[in-house]
Amino acid sequence: MKKILCLMLCLTVPAFAQKFEGLALTPPMGFNTWNTFATNINEVLIQQTADTMVKNGMRDAGYSYIVIDDCWSLKERDANGNLLPDPAKFPGGMKALGDYLHARGFKFGIYSCAGSKTCGGYPGSQGHEYQDALTFASWGVDYLKYDWCNTATRDAREAYTTMRDALFTAKRPVVFSICEWGNSKPWEWAKDVGHLWRTTGDIHASYNAVQRWERGWKIILDLQYSLVQPADGQNNGIGQYAGPGHWNDPDMLEVGREDLTFAESRAHFSLWCILAAPLMAGADVRNITPEILAVMTDKEAIAIDQDSLGKEGWRYRAEPSREIWVRELSNGEWAVALLNTGDTAADLTLSFRDLWFIEGKRQIHDIWDKKDVGTNEKPFTKHLDSHDVAFLRLKPIKEPAAK
Ligand code: GLA
Repeated sequence: MKKILCLMLCLTVPAFAQKFEGLALTPPMGFNTWNTFATNINEVLIQQTADTMVKNGMRDAGYSYIVIDDCWSLKERDANGNLLPDPAKFPGGMKALGDYLHARGFKFGIYSCAGSKTCGGYPGSQGHEYQDALTFASWGVDYLKYDWCNTATRDAREAYTTMRDALFTAKRPVVFSICEWGNSKPWEWAKDVGHLWRTTGDIHASYNAVQRWERGWKIILDLQYSLVQPADGQNNGIGQYAGPGHWNDPDMLEVGREDLTFAESRAHFSLWCILAAPLMAGADVRNITPEILAVMTDKEAIAIDQDSLGKEGWRYRAEPSREIWVRELSNGEWAVALLNTGDTAADLTLSFRDLWFIEGKRQIHDIWDKKDVGTNEKPFTKHLDSHDVAFLRLKPIKEPAAK
C-alpha cells in the first residue's frame, strides 16, 4: 500500500523545478531605475516614482512592475552569506519597500547577477542562488532581472536554469528576466527558463549610433529584427521565438530621455509595441512632459503591445529613408508603423498593395492622430518629421452579406 501511495505521489509531484507558468502572458510593463539613475538610487526615489505613477495614470495604463536595478546592496554579504540592502540608500529595508509598492497596487522587482559580482561590482548570486531566492521571496519580490557580468566560463543555460530552479523552490511566483545580452541566443533555449530575455547589449538614448553592435536602438533594430532584408532577402528574424510567457526583450525604454526628440521617443515606443517588447519605462517619470506621458499611456498603442495573440512583429521593408514595420494582431487585425528614417521631414506614402499578406478590405486607424484615415483601397500618405512614425491599426471591414 505504502509503495502504491509513494508511486502515486511521485507521479503527481513534479520531480523537477520549473519556471512559474501563467506569468507575463503579455509583455511585462513597468519602470526600471537603470537608464536614468544607474547607481544613484534610493528608497525615496522608488516611493516617489510609485506615487507619481499612481497619480499620472501610468499604473492604471499597465505599468505594474517597479524594478530596482543594480547597485542596491552593500558591497559585501553578511557573515551568513546573506545579501543586505545598502542602509544609506534603503534605510527602511527591502521588505518595507516591497510592502509600500504592493499597497499601491504595484509589483516589486529587483536585480541580481549570475556572476560572482554584478556589473556594478556588488555581490552576484553565483553559488548563492537558493539563498538569494529565499531572501527575495522574504522581501516580497515579484520580478528578478538577472544579469551576466563576471560569469567567467559559466554556461548561460546552466546559470539561468539554476536560478530558475532556486526561485521555483522558494515558492514565490517571480517573473524571471534573463539579461545575458543575447550572447548565447537565449531565444533558442530559454522558453522554459525565463519569461523574457534580452536580445542585445545595452540600449542608449541615441538614434544615430553608428557602429554595429555598438549601442543605440536603431542599430539594435537593424540587426536583430529585420525579417526581410531588401539587400539580400535573408530571413534573420527572431520573432518566432516570442509568445505569451516568453518574450524577446530589446531592452528598456529610452522614451522621454532628453537625448531623443519627441518624434524619436514616439517612434521608439511605436516600434517596441510592434515588437511585443516589454515596456519598462527608463526615464525619470516624475519629470516627463505631458506629451511624453500621453505617448507612454496611450491606450491604443499599449493595446498593440499587449495584444493577446502575442505574435511579435517585424521590419517588413527598409529603404533609404523609410521603413515599414508590421505586426499581426488578434481578430485578424494588423498594426503597421511607417517610419521616416530620413534627416528631414517628408511626405511618406504607404501603398497597401505592398502589404500583400494583409488580406481583405480594411479601415485604417491612425493611432497617434486618433482618427480613421480611410481604407486600404487607397495609398496612405502622411507628413512625418525626421524620425517620426505613423502608427496604424488595420481593422477588417465586414461587407454586408449579399442578398
Ligand atoms: C548590464 C545590463 C543593464 C544594467 C546594468 C547594471 O549592463 O545589461 O541593463 O542592468 O548591467 O549594471
